[in-house]
Amino acid sequence: MQDQLIIFDTTLRDGEQAPGIALSPDDKVAIATQLAKLRVDVIEAGFAASSPGDFTAVARIADEVDGPVIASLARTHPDDIEQAAEALRAADRKRIHVFVSTSPIHMEQMLRMTPSEVMTSVTESVRLARRHVDDVEFSPQDATRSDPDFVIEVCRAAVDAGATTINIPDTVGYAMPEDFVALLSKVYAEVRGGNEDVIISTHCHNDLGLAVANSLSAIHAGARQIEGAINGIGERAGNTSTEEVIMAVSTRQDHFGVEIGADTTEIFETSRLVSSLTGYPIQYNKAVVGRNAFAHESGIHQHGVLRHRETYEIMDPASIGHQSMIVLGKHSGRAAFADALDKLGITVEDVDFQRAFDRFKELADRKGEIGEEGIRAIVSEETGTGTEEMSLVSIHFSGGSQETPVATVTLDRDGEVIEVEAQGDGMVNAAFVAVQDAYRIAATLTDYRVSPLTSGADAMAKVEVVIKVGAATFPGRGVSTDVVEGSVRAMVSAMNKAAAAAGALDGGQVE
Ligand code: KIV
Ligand code: ZN
Repeated sequence: MQDQLIIFDTTLRDGEQAPGIALSPDDKVAIATQLAKLRVDVIEAGFAASSPGDFTAVARIADEVDGPVIASLARTHPDDIEQAAEALRAADRKRIHVFVSTSPIHMEQMLRMTPSEVMTSVTESVRLARRHVDDVEFSPQDATRSDPDFVIEVCRAAVDAGATTINIPDTVGYAMPEDFVALLSKVYAEVRGGNEDVIISTHCHNDLGLAVANSLSAIHAGARQIEGAINGIGERAGNTSTEEVIMAVSTRQDHFGVEIGADTTEIFETSRLVSSLTGYPIQYNKAVVGRNAFAHESGIHQHGVLRHRETYEIMDPASIGHQSMIVLGKHSGRAAFADALDKLGITVEDVDFQRAFDRFKELADRKGEIGEEGIRAIVSEETGTGTEEMSLVSIHFSGGSQETPVATVTLDRDGEVIEVEAQGDGMVNAAFVAVQDAYRIAATLTDYRVSPLTSGADAMAKVEVVIKVGAATFPGRGVSTDVVEGSVRAMVSAMNKAAAAAGALDGGQVE
């Protein structure tokens, strides 16, 4: 057991804390289901006491997702622990993750607690958590800017109170690998000692780009759990990237000598799903999952790879589930489209399948061939959020190049045709105003990105938007050979999500 490295994924908790991400409970269940396929050991499903939405998501994941241990975060407050325990009730295997800050700056400025009050809160809260579950993790927040002797004292108190995992967070991404290894070695020797029931864990942030390196370096200091988020998303510069840890450990077994239970072939799908539901793009040159991670540009490299893949590739793209050869054409039928979705690991309901297929045919007629990225973008645009949603029928513009453009947007809601006209200071802006009028929801555009899916003058483009309505944000995606049309489709897909959540929104209705 000690040679097993536990992969603890916090995409749904720390990952979701990234600015602009707001996943619905359905999105979270979809990601957790995929994380279970990836066979991570622990899913931190949320912070149950932080909001009713988080509570629901933790409870649904606890009920609906089998396999991994399901965890909820909790402060050392009794109410947080009770809510975590309640949300986790249906899980077969559950963990409460208790944390409190131990650095002078956090204790003085944020908590306004003395070190001895912090100690007491740890003992009491871990004991309370143990009354509900057998598996309790404790984290001294901001450990790397804390007095190491105080970290040891607090962690020993947590173990004495029943904690079974001691997690050392580099909360602000401040540690250098040597310092982190020294701290982890101290914790391993002085907190775990000979107690084989205690697992030492790491949780690193990427402010200085060292999250993965620091986490991996801790394996040699005895750490047997690493916490991370898919695509490295999270607060500020993000968390340790789960998939990078998995692939480093499996590619360099000779170096680390620890086992992992993850199914690496689910990495690619997990990464794409998280990117599409969060609206966070994946950096092109991102290790393991970036679109260039297995691309060879220079002639010498291409020649080498054609002769023998391993000349320039240390990982086989197939080992992360990267299927790059899927191309459909305008003659491809429903069966071929369904088969492509199956190969891409995408499951959609019947209604969504029909809409995605119709849209695929429409684009394939204009474009000829559509590859994997295009198919993913179409499905992501057409995947519904409920029966109330609208779809774009057409857009027309009037006004010459010197005049303010006027957009006429026609939408369909379950057979009812809605036509709206609006002015704007550009074609995209005019269309966005018209869409907002159609939904009667005022939104602010907080992110807008266009990326090509194919090359050439008639290239197909993917447009991604993030809109803000009240305090909530919603991502949307559109695909088209026309950038303005793609933009409106992305706006409509985001507005459908906003409309579906409208009951829960705290503002933004213009009516
Ligand atoms: O970064 C951090 O310190 C955390 C803790 C709650 C573990 O996310
Ligand atoms: Zn964190």
